[in-house]
Amino acid sequence: MKVKVLPVVLLFLGVLAAYAFAGVRGTAHDFFMRIPELSGYTDKELCRFCHLLRVPGPAATSPPLYNLYQSPTLRAVIQQPNGSSRACLLCHDGSSSLGSIWAGYIGRRLPLGPVSERVSLGGDLSDDHPVSFVYDSSLARRKGSLAEPTILPRQVRLDPRGRLQCTTCHNPHAERFSKFLVMDNSVSQLCMSCHRFQSAGSSYHTSTNTACGNCHRVHGGSDRLLTSPLRRPR
Ligand code: HEC
Ligand code: HEC
Ligand code: HEC
Ligand code: HEC
Ligand code: HEC
Repeated sequence: MKVKVLPVVLLFLGVLAAYAFAGVRGTAHDFFMRIPELSGYTDKELCRFCHLLRVPGPAATSPPLYNLYQSPTLRAVIQQPNGSSRACLLCHDGSSSLGSIWAGYIGRRLPLGPVSERVSLGGDLSDDHPVSFVYDSSLARRKGSLAEPTILPRQVRLDPRGRLQCTTCHNPHAERFSKFLVMDNSVSQLCMSCHRFQSAGSSYHTSTNTACGNCHRVHGGSDRLLTSPLRRPR
């Protein structure tokens, strides 16, 4: 049994890897292209620059603690970032220089600063779309305006434990859509694959008013992730 399965599994992983390869090259995550100090590393190493990061495990004594998103209407139980979100935040909370993140791997300290301000979420995640919580049918029922998590589009994936993570909305390997999004969001398709408002719902949300970005900002929004002019509605 094992003998037959293994080659299939290897082939599958190989295809996945080849797919990821083609994607990462030339993107904002192509560190070799963007960071001259790294020229000389091979394609294979590009993957290791994220895949061999020492993300502190659950047993780590002092994981970075972030301010978490909260709101009176939130139903999910939000946790400190876990799973793959921690790998993203290692770079994208902007607290560590890339030089020190990679020092152990490269074997020397490169004069590289943290990610630019533009892509840093900072240590305060209270103004970002919540991540690292279980999105299950029970949450969908309690909220009332969420799709059943079992019918999400194929590209919009929860992690193996059913948790919504950065990787639910972003695929760090491919820039097919801007900002590494997993699908086009030009008419809020990504948002609406999960958020479903009835036309008779709140006055802000009708089935025709679908330009979420007019009022909401998923990163750097204020209360209820709103853009500032709507900070205190009514
Ligand atoms: C910018 C950081 C980053 C780079 C560069 C990167 N990866 Fe990943 N990769 C991740 C993260 C984070 C995950 C975990 C995704 C998850 O848990 O859902 C992942 C997951 C994967 C998976 C599992 C399948 C999936 O898509 O979830 C494969 C296969 C993979 N990476 C291959 C590669 C290969 C091959 C390269 C090099 C060409 C590469 N990665 C470069 C961050 C990166
Ligand atoms: C090893 C560090 C590292 C890791 C890990 C990493 N990134 Fe990045 N990311 C970068 C750098 C460097 C840039 C280039 C931005 C800059 O500094 O201007 C970037 C850019 C981006 C951008 C902006 C793209 C654009 O076109 O503006 C997004 C979105 C992003 N990353 C998401 C993620 C997500 C989601 C994850 C986890 C799945 C992740 N990154 C993991 C280093 C990283
Ligand atoms: C619910 C979906 C969703 C989740 C979850 C999510 N993002 Fe984003 N992210 C977006 C969208 C949509 C944009 C594009 C916003 C825009 O263009 O205005 C974006 C943009 C970004 C950018 C680029 C910022 C810029 O203005 O150029 C970075 C970096 C980023 N996300 C990182 C992350 C990280 C790290 C996580 C996890 C902690 C995460 N995202 C979780 C949807 C999401
Ligand atoms: C993969 C599914 C998914 C996607 C995609 C998604 N969301 Fe969410 N979003 C959720 C879930 C689940 C919650 C938590 C709801 C709760 O617990 O009340 C949430 C929470 C929120 C909240 C806070 C709700 C509150 O009551 O405080 C806002 C605002 C929001 N999302 C806006 C957006 C916008 C705008 C987009 C598109 C960029 C988006 N979401 C994309 C699933 C998603
Ligand atoms: C015209 C402005 C506007 C638009 C467009 C809009 N929202 Fe909102 N949204 C608001 C306001 C204002 C609130 C806070 C409402 C309150 O205080 O009751 C809110 C609250 C929310 C909440 C949390 C409360 C709840 O009912 O769950 C979510 C989730 C949300 N919006 C998602 C979205 C998504 C997804 C879209 C796009 C399909 C969207 N919104 C489009 C203005 C808007």
